[in-house]
Amino acid sequence: SHRITLGPLVAAIDQGTSSTRFLVFNSTTSELLSHHQVEIKQSFPKEGWVEEDPKEILQSVYECMERTCEKLTQLNIDISNIKAIGVTNQRETTIVWDKETGEPLYNAVVWLDLRTQSTVENLISKTPGRNKNHLKHKTGLPISTYFSAVKLRWLMDNVEEVHQAVLSHRAMFGTVDSWLIWCLTGGKSGGVHCTDVTNASRTMLFNIHTMDWDPELCKYFGIPMEILPRVRSSSEIYGLMKSGALTGIPISGCLGDQSAALVGQMCFQDGQAKNTYGTGCFLLRNTGSKPVMSDHGLLTTVAYKLGRDKPACYALEGSVAIAGAVVRWLQDNLGIIASHEELEKLAASVGTSYGCYFVPAFSGLYAPYWEPSARGIICGLTQFTNRNHLSFAALEAVCFQTKEILDAMNQDSGIPLTQLQVDGGMTSNRLLMQLQADILCIPVVKPSMPETTALGAAMAAGAAEGVSVWSLCPEDLSEVTCEKFEPQINPEGTCTCNTSM
Ligand code: G3P
Repeated sequence: SHRITLGPLVAAIDQGTSSTRFLVFNSTTSELLSHHQVEIKQSFPKEGWVEEDPKEILQSVYECMERTCEKLTQLNIDISNIKAIGVTNQRETTIVWDKETGEPLYNAVVWLDLRTQSTVENLISKTPGRNKNHLKHKTGLPISTYFSAVKLRWLMDNVEEVHQAVLSHRAMFGTVDSWLIWCLTGGKSGGVHCTDVTNASRTMLFNIHTMDWDPELCKYFGIPMEILPRVRSSSEIYGLMKSGALTGIPISGCLGDQSAALVGQMCFQDGQAKNTYGTGCFLLRNTGSKPVMSDHGLLTTVAYKLGRDKPACYALEGSVAIAGAVVRWLQDNLGIIASHEELEKLAASVGTSYGCYFVPAFSGLYAPYWEPSARGIICGLTQFTNRNHLSFAALEAVCFQTKEILDAMNQDSGIPLTQLQVDGGMTSNRLLMQLQADILCIPVVKPSMPETTALGAAMAAGAAEGVSVWSLCPEDLSEVTCEKFEPQINPEGTCTCNTSM
């Protein structure tokens, strides 16, 4: 058997929409040594509303940490080798808590939530020319239910506890990264209230040119600036763990999950891109030190800033709200499948949807439409249609949505991507990967280590000044092997997708 030489270890907390993970990597080989995952409950208290419990989120982090440490101990790996922890998270999800009691004042309002639809429509109707891109020059974002500012406004207007806490200067706002870092570094007894530039760039309160909170934006949304976390780079020591088995270890990396995946995929060059299939699906293309504004419905976002004195890098982003969530919906709401694996099997058994199309616009449509009033539809049904065809149509829906954002990306940059680097939970579905290659007519490339998001956060944490156990050069990942799905070409030499559509 093969004995690994252990270098310093770096851990990552990956707090996604559907689950929380804690993972430990060997910083010299990028090898994943151990991890643990816990599902997160979502509640849908009203049509269009999506909430999660901030305390459950925090508990899930502690549970994953403990279980992973136990597993390491069983592997005879000393947990004192862990030198740093990175945090990566579902973005935009909005939490307000009381800094004196440490208690959340309401559930987390999840990024997918639509309760602010009328607020958003109102705001847009008041802009000159009813322009949803009215704030885009500063934020890179259209006015949408997706981003934190409107969610925070809703909490201040509709939750008495939040309103009171703001008035009495006890309120703290944060996205999930801020909530976790504040709690893990001591909470009400001295927790650090911060966020990183990538998470901040998803709030609609952040100016992506000055790289700081924007007083005008805060005024526009009526948000008092004192409740906002301090904005830091994505790679620096924010504070130390204050409890549990990892007490004393620095938290030194923080990136929104899509940024972390970009880093984990080593997309450090202008023009490099990745697509992550999680709850939603997010295609990010590095545009280097320049924020590029899209003419085709994409977002401009901060990709990363890997150190206080390092330059910021930007990305163009195509965001699709519903990808993996469509599988969970077929499972939980319709009850016609029991798992992702079953969906793949059923879809593969027919290999076609027979003209059935599924548009899972459960949370309106994101890129490139930004239409909060859109709703899902399944069409093209016949007597013949069964759950196998529906399963196939669900997978196609993910691929077609990706095609739309890839087309927008290619039009914006003028340089078409010649292959697509992918990661995320759904990429274990081989049928999906092949379909995606066929529909895009370019190869789809998947790293064999699927935990790219966590890897990116660990890299940022390990590279931080004062930790310095990870150097961010692409050679680090020379060991990483990839699997390539080539588009299948028919005898006429065109992609099968073009002939079958
Ligand atoms: O913008 C939302 C995104 O960060 C959520 O990612 O992986 O939970 O779908 P995921």
